[in-house]
Amino acid sequence: MQKRNIPLLNEEQRELMRAAARFNSQLMDFIRPQVVAGVTTGAIDRLVAEYTRDHGHTPACLGYHGFPKTICTSINDVICHGIPDNTVLTEGDIVNVDLTTIVNGWYGDQSETIMIGNVSDAARHLVQVTFDSLYAAINTLRPGSKVIEIGRAIAKTVRPHGFSIVRDYQGHGIGRVFHQDPGIPHYPTPGARFQILRPGVCFTIEPMINQGRVETVLDSSDGWTVRTKDGKLSAQFEHTILMTEDGPEILTWTEHGPQEGHRF
Ligand code: MF3
Ligand code: CO
Ligand code: CO
Repeated sequence: MQKRNIPLLNEEQRELMRAAARFNSQLMDFIRPQVVAGVTTGAIDRLVAEYTRDHGHTPACLGYHGFPKTICTSINDVICHGIPDNTVLTEGDIVNVDLTTIVNGWYGDQSETIMIGNVSDAARHLVQVTFDSLYAAINTLRPGSKVIEIGRAIAKTVRPHGFSIVRDYQGHGIGRVFHQDPGIPHYPTPGARFQILRPGVCFTIEPMINQGRVETVLDSSDGWTVRTKDGKLSAQFEHTILMTEDGPEILTWTEHGPQEGHRF
C-alpha cells in the first residue's frame, strides 16, 4: 500500500474551502458571458486577473511552476494548460476556461468548456458527453466511497461514444495546496481501488475527454500546452468537491452555468 497524506478538513477549514470555491465560481459566472467570438484569450485572462485582484484575491496559476498567465484557455485540440495569448476565439471553436484562485490561503479550482457560437454536431456531442461524465462521477460519491468508482462511472459514460479518457492528467486533492493527494484518475486504475473518500477530503474531478485517440503531446516550445496527438478535439469540465458525512458538496457550483442534466 502506498503511503498517502490526505488532509481531512475540520468544520472551520471546510468553511474556508467553501469560501474560496464560492469566489472562484462567481469568477466563472463573471467571465463566461465574455467568452465569445472575436475576443482574444489574452483579453479574457486580463479580465479574470483584474476581477480577482479587485476582490482582494490571488490568481493561483500565475507563476505556478512558471506558468505565465492567470488562467488556462484550451481551444479545440488543446487538452489542457493552454496559455492565453492573442488568439481570437472564432465561431465553431470549443474552449475550456480553467480558473483557480487563492482566497485567504485556500484554493478553488474549476473549468468549463464553452462553445463559441454554433459548433459542429461532433463538437457539441463531445462537450455533452464530457459534461455528463463529470456528473456521472459525482453521482457515485458517498462518504467512504472509493476513488475507482469515479473512473468507472466516467468510462461507462464515455466508452459507448468511442471517445477516449485522457490518462496523462488527473484530478487532485486541493486545499491549502493546489495539487495534493489523493490523485483522482478519470479511468479505473488498480491503485484507486484502495483510495477511500472519507468525510473531510476535498478534491477535484476534471475529466479530459478526447474525440479520437488518447495520446497527448506536450508543446516543446512553451512547455505547457497539451494537445491531442491526432489533432482531434478534446473537452473538459472540472469541479472542486468536498466529501462530508452527509455526502458530497460541489463547492464550485455556479449560479448561471450548466447544471446537471443540461443539454448543450
Ligand atoms: N487548473 C489546472 C487544474 O485543474 C492546473 C493548471 S496549472 C497551470 O489542476 F500552471 F497550468 F496553470
Ligand atoms: Co484541477
Ligand atoms: Co483547474
